[in-house]
Amino acid sequence: MKREIGIILGLVLLVRSNPMDQSLRYCFLSDGERSKTASEENGIAIEEDYPDNVGKMEFSFDLFHNLRSDDEEMNLFFSPHIIHQALTMALFGAKGETEQQLREVLRVNQTKLELVRKFLAETKVLRNSSGNSVELAVANRLFFSEEEPVRMCMRATFENDQIQFLDFKKSDEAERIINKWVEAETKGKIKDIIPKGELSPMSRIALASSVYFKGRWEQEFDKTRTKQSLFYVSPDKITQTQMMYLKGNFKHGVASALQSYIIDLPYKGNSHSMIILLPPFVAGSLNETISRLTADTFYSAVENLRYYKNEDYSFNDEVEIYFPKFKTEQTIQLTEALRSIGVVDLFNPEASNLTDFSEKPGLAFDSAIHKSYIEVNEEGSEAAAATIFLMSRQGRLHPLTKYEINRPFAYFVIDNTKGNEILFSGIFKTPKTAKIVTEIL
Ligand SMILES: *[C@@H]1O[C@H](CO)[C@@H](O)[C@H](O)[C@H]1NC(C)=O
Ligand SMILES: *[C@@H]1O[C@H](CO)[C@@H](O)[C@H](O)[C@H]1NC(C)=O
Ligand SMILES: *[C@@H]1O[C@H](CO)[C@@H](O)[C@H](O)[C@H]1NC(C)=O
Ligand SMILES: *[C@@H]1O[C@H](CO)[C@@H](O)[C@H](O)[C@H]1NC(C)=O
Repeated sequence: MKREIGIILGLVLLVRSNPMDQSLRYCFLSDGERSKTASEENGIAIEEDYPDNVGKMEFSFDLFHNLRSDDEEMNLFFSPHIIHQALTMALFGAKGETEQQLREVLRVNQTKLELVRKFLAETKVLRNSSGNSVELAVANRLFFSEEEPVRMCMRATFENDQIQFLDFKKSDEAERIINKWVEAETKGKIKDIIPKGELSPMSRIALASSVYFKGRWEQEFDKTRTKQSLFYVSPDKITQTQMMYLKGNFKHGVASALQSYIIDLPYKGNSHSMIILLPPFVAGSLNETISRLTADTFYSAVENLRYYKNEDYSFNDEVEIYFPKFKTEQTIQLTEALRSIGVVDLFNPEASNLTDFSEKPGLAFDSAIHKSYIEVNEEGSEAAAATIFLMSRQGRLHPLTKYEINRPFAYFVIDNTKGNEILFSGIFKTPKTAKIVTEIL
């Protein structure tokens, strides 16, 4: 009775660049900070808690709102966490206005040195935190042209894991190497993240980030109960999908501020959870819930659910859950979305200032590609259809004992140990593989 979920994705930022040379300690210090002594610098402790998780969550929802589509059949899946990390790597090389824009979008105000230290410590931990429950591997790497005399301090800081030199003149070969690396880091799930011909012999830096996540539910779905069931793309548009079934104790209830039901499906070990927001069965309700989503409303809804903090109905008791088995793969061209949330200069060779990577002006990112994949899978199932859909009254929602997730919903894989940091965000509107079976006009 194994019920597993795997989530994989990768992100690539392409850059044209060149170089320079400095000592490691001075690499990420501003002029003012350089007056501090080495021992002072070495003495700075890496922050152990995550005071910036609110900012990170705001960034997550900025992107979420930007990437979501009004299209009734457009699912969404991406990792705000990995995009935040990739942009943080870009920030290490940025100065002036380019740096300021990144700081505002990422909501970071620590010094670069602090950020780099934290980044290295965090990625070291995340690089391979495959415990016995949740498997999580995050990897970031800068690929430089081997002709570039990259600043020594950059080499020193990111050597081993995070930096690799390639012959970009043979761009096909370079593409292949980067794609292979992402593929290996994502256990074969993300292939060909860089489309053929995207790298040119002029390319001098590519930045790739990838994350692989695989977790098993704390309480597994009952494989024998998986059935072909109805899924309501909208109240009058019905399709079919494999629906899993589970009966068990869960934190669940109503998030009034989001006009939605909320369910916490923890992974084994409880370090991570999938939070499902299931709006009532009313046309346009997912749109309503999504438009109410902010860092604040989301965080509060999760905390209310966990700690019974306010008048929201929240319970921890036995419920029945019907949940679709699904797989979503998505490639997102992030450049426009990033521009519209404020990362403007980074993609403009006229304006970008990446002089901490290279002193030579004109260095700018070519593009940002995000590829993601999620699979909620289960072996073996029987087909049959029959389900009852929930019809909710308008106004106050009442708690349920049976959650039929047979209509569009939003889901978030969060890290419970880091202030509910959002690892992955998704909107599920329709089972991709299914055909619409009924369309009532
Ligand atoms: C980059 O920003 C720094 C700091 O603001 C500035 O001194 C430098 O002139 C800028 N370089 C370019 C090429 O814009
Ligand atoms: C950074 O931002 C936080 C929250 O906005 C603020 O409390 C803190 O004082 C800021 N730190 C610096 C050095 O500006
Ligand atoms: C992670 O660690 C596990 C066990 O310690 C090992 O089998 C696996 O190869 C490691 N993965 C990576 C990407 O280093
Ligand atoms: C969803 O809400 C937005 C405003 O928040 C609106 O522009 C859009 O038309 C709505 N879409 C649907 C399908 O109702």
